[in-house]
Amino acid sequence: MAALLKPAVSLASSQFMGQVLKPAAASSSLATPQQYASLSVRAGPYADELVKTANAVASKGRGILAMDESNATCGKRLASIGLENTEANRQAYRELLVTTPGLGDYISGAILFEETLYQSTLAGKKFVDCLKEAGIAPGIKVDKGLVPLAGSNDESWCQGLDGLAARSAEYYKQGARFAKWRTVVSIPNGPSRLAVVEAAWGLARYAAISQENGLVPIVEPEILLDGEHNIDRTLAVAEEVWSEVFYQLANNNVMFEGILLKPSMVTPGAECKERVTPEVVAEYTLKMLKRRVPPAVPGIMFLSGGQSEVEATLNLNAMNQSPNPWHVSFSYARALQNTVLKTWGGNPEKVKAAQTALLIRAKANSLAQLGKYSAEGESEEAKKGMFVANYTY
Ligand code: 13P
Repeated sequence: MAALLKPAVSLASSQFMGQVLKPAAASSSLATPQQYASLSVRAGPYADELVKTANAVASKGRGILAMDESNATCGKRLASIGLENTEANRQAYRELLVTTPGLGDYISGAILFEETLYQSTLAGKKFVDCLKEAGIAPGIKVDKGLVPLAGSNDESWCQGLDGLAARSAEYYKQGARFAKWRTVVSIPNGPSRLAVVEAAWGLARYAAISQENGLVPIVEPEILLDGEHNIDRTLAVAEEVWSEVFYQLANNNVMFEGILLKPSMVTPGAECKERVTPEVVAEYTLKMLKRRVPPAVPGIMFLSGGQSEVEATLNLNAMNQSPNPWHVSFSYARALQNTVLKTWGGNPEKVKAAQTALLIRAKANSLAQLGKYSAEGESEEAKKGMFVANYTY
């Protein structure tokens, strides 16, 4: 790590971060660009730990369980099985998830909503401790959700930068080691240049603040599935979005070795008639990533975005048929939880069965991370798509 942090020239402390320096006393009128030394990125006192955390989350055969639904979204999930959106019900469901025996074999990180970060099992054990004991890093959703972006074509931007440094420091104390910020880009509504730049800038500021406070930022510009566009259009938009995101991450001196990405897979729009195979999704998605993502980034952890459980797993499996420059894995919410929720149905006697269902999905995706998954024997439920137009998280 020392090499990463070492400035190319020694400086007074007030001169750090991302400046381009002129060699002292060189005749500046004759200086060529090659004579300018730019500084290495500085990630503050947590640099080593960030790299360690990112690599632990991006570890072989494992991925992330996204269980960070806001209270409103969790309410919709609970309503789908006839339960009221009470704190007790949210706690019961999350307790089921975090206490699943053996989960750490397949899951390396769990993203929590703020309420869950501070909750415990009914027996009084902190959820954070349940996760740590299983070898799972606790993560925290830190964005404050989407609001309309004034001046755009009905697009949105993501709030949450105000007070983020103080909140992040608190979350770290509470045991969180990585963070998530989800912003969205809509293809049918544009995307406008304004929306793309705003999404990238917000992600980059969040990433810099997270790293300063010891949290590995998951960078998630979700390109929504909504729309009739074909896969080539998705590829073009994804390339534009990720180039802007990396430009802004670099401008904000974010250390790439200490981040994780959460992209959407490159697929046709949900309403597009031309459907494609997992092999084509893999070809397009990897082409986009190889063109845009430096190999310094340890892990690519896909969102499922409304794909069925089996579809999300098949697509991931197709992406792992040959070696990639980064760990290519999952950070699914819907594609890990759908069958679990239905199996549980709020019935305490079904907790074990629901945990078994979670383990089945986690293992399937673990195999897909290794490129060894087969959909043989998957249930009909797991094959049902979960796309909801204008889905909010
Ligand atoms: P889905 O896998 O349901 O798209 O959720 C991903 C997400 O952003 C939650 O962190």
